[in-house]
Amino acid sequence: MSKVLILPGDGIGQEVVIQALKVIDFLNANFNLGMTLEHGLIGGSAYDVTGSPLPQDTLDVARKCDSILLGAVGGYKWESLLRDLRPERGLLRLRAEMDLFSNLRPAILYSQLISASTLKKEVVLGLDLMIIRELVSGIYFGKPRGIEIRNGQRYGFNTATYFESEIRRIGHSAFKIAQLRNKRVCSVDKANVLEVCELWRKVMIDLAKDYPDVELSHMYVDNVAMQLVRAPKQFDVIVTSNLFGDVLSDCAAMLTGSIGMLPSASLNQYGFGMYEPIHGSAPDIEGKDIANPLAAILSVAMMLRYSLNQAHLAFKIEAAVNAVLDKGYRTLDILTEGGMVVGTNEMGNLVVEALV
Ligand code: NAD
Ligand code: IPM
Ligand code: MN
Repeated sequence: MSKVLILPGDGIGQEVVIQALKVIDFLNANFNLGMTLEHGLIGGSAYDVTGSPLPQDTLDVARKCDSILLGAVGGYKWESLLRDLRPERGLLRLRAEMDLFSNLRPAILYSQLISASTLKKEVVLGLDLMIIRELVSGIYFGKPRGIEIRNGQRYGFNTATYFESEIRRIGHSAFKIAQLRNKRVCSVDKANVLEVCELWRKVMIDLAKDYPDVELSHMYVDNVAMQLVRAPKQFDVIVTSNLFGDVLSDCAAMLTGSIGMLPSASLNQYGFGMYEPIHGSAPDIEGKDIANPLAAILSVAMMLRYSLNQAHLAFKIEAAVNAVLDKGYRTLDILTEGGMVVGTNEMGNLVVEALV
């Protein structure tokens, strides 16, 4: 039996999590998934009810669960709140409190969606890359930070910091995952300019000695941004810092046709994980039943694989997604020629029907 905390959050986060729950319910009823669910608040919707984007109750329940499924947080409504009260701060605090330092963001092109990608077919066909993003340190969390008056004008500042131990543990994650894949790690930094990245690179080079079977390379982040759209299949595992990983994973998402296709896992050292689509709350399409729920559904598959030791059911979900795409069903963001447009709800139902 596993216990999972469901945190739908805001905007389309709520819409896509409902679809993921349909999948969980079906697997519980028909395939001995054995998952019990807790439900909690996070983000703007938590702020509206409790005055906090991460209520203590949510944290307490999270600590008693085996993993978390999250939708997304944020929205126009909360953008002018004090920074500590904003939805995004709730998510960042939850990641930090649970020490979810290792963020796995796989970018896989489903071949049925080849023409949904904005890139040429030959550039993306067969794409399967894994971005590993450090998630609880770096410039997102470094101090000092703030906005203050200096020399009679406003001055904004953040600090990019990494302890070598923080670099080492994300490096270990990357090398271990590469061992299960094509045994190539590309460490992404800006060591030509930033001291924090110089340390990052040195630590990665040291670590590589423990993994003689894995090939380590280094690339500057600006070049990686270019290479991702030039020739993305050159990469197997990319390991990088918090901010670079955030930006590069949205870029990689588009190679697969849509950001609505990318799930993620955020793991701590004990294998506890939070699973979420990499997209946000998409206020521009909220409430229209057009959001793509596949990233959220595929996040459940990642949960089964990485935290709950039920890889056979993860394969089942992925096979169901494949079957639905094979039949030509598409949400608007992944529409390809001849495809049949379905809404968020319908797509969820179709995936459940394909679970055999
Ligand atoms: P976003 O990812 O929410 O949306 C970017 C674009 O992609 C939008 O045009 C949106 O309609 C589209 N999109 C995203 N998910 C989609 C899906 N499943 N199906 C179809 N289209 C989809 O990013 P944004 O607009 O920069 O941010 C909106 C809000 O979400 C902000 O408040 C931001 O802070 C928050 N955000 C939260 C998370 C998270 O919770 N992990 C991630 C990113 C952004
Ligand atoms: C993501 C998001 C978050 C991040 C925001 C909402 C805090 O963009 O999960 O990719 O920057 O990590
Ligand atoms: Mn992001």
